[in-house]
Amino acid sequence: SRRKFFVGGNWKLNGDKKSLGELISTLNGGKINDQTEVVCGAPSIYLDFARQKLDAKYAVSAQNCYKVAKGAFTGEISPAMIKDVGVTWVILGHSERRHVFGESDELIGQKVAHALEEGIGVIACIGEKLDEREAGITEKVVFEQTKAIANNVKDWSKVVLAYEPVWAIGTGKTATPQQAQEVHEKLRAWLKTNVSEDVAKSTRIIYGGSVTGGTCKELASQGDIDGFLVGGASLKAEFIDIINAKN
Ligand code: G3H
Repeated sequence: SRRKFFVGGNWKLNGDKKSLGELISTLNGGKINDQTEVVCGAPSIYLDFARQKLDAKYAVSAQNCYKVAKGAFTGEISPAMIKDVGVTWVILGHSERRHVFGESDELIGQKVAHALEEGIGVIACIGEKLDEREAGITEKVVFEQTKAIANNVKDWSKVVLAYEPVWAIGTGKTATPQQAQEVHEKLRAWLKTNVSEDVAKSTRIIYGGSVTGGTCKELASQGDIDGFLVGGASLKAEFIDIINAKN
């Protein structure tokens, strides 16, 4: 496959200089496979700290950003600021941004467009809620979310699509490899029909939702799973096993 395996850690709202410093030391000492692209998502206040302390083998990601470069938008950060501290990625449309902070598909699309215009990579997140899966509308939901993102993408080489079923996030209830593969395959087919065959073949589609050292290998063996977005386990040494899931 021409798709380089991609593992993102999303530290969410966790850690302090002491604990993140310890995590970073563990990661820096870890033996990681160079066939995998690794990105660590730090809280905005620690982006500069994380970039300064992490080895160059790790890229750093913000967990969110706003849709314009600067101005009267109290509390926000912009892709320009993210770049200014040497950080090269941003997670957008995460389930918690959508469901805890009420971000719409429209706003997420605007953020995706601006981040890409500024030249930073985007980990764009989508995923259905439990009631949506149970109602049999998983495909409809993830296709709509993907469309709102895709409408704002010109250069797909800087986009990683993260499928994160909401019912699997932070619950210990990992999607089975078959459940995840099924959705990833449909998303790739959607990209083929709605964007291009080339984009469908080259875009990494990663899975998130209670990925652990124990579940990562079988998930990674599925044909359309090109990596992971890891929450809880990215704060532990176990993250190194997940990075190496493809070995
Ligand atoms: O961004 C990461 C996902 O929300 C997964 O989090 O691994 O703690 O379930 P989790």
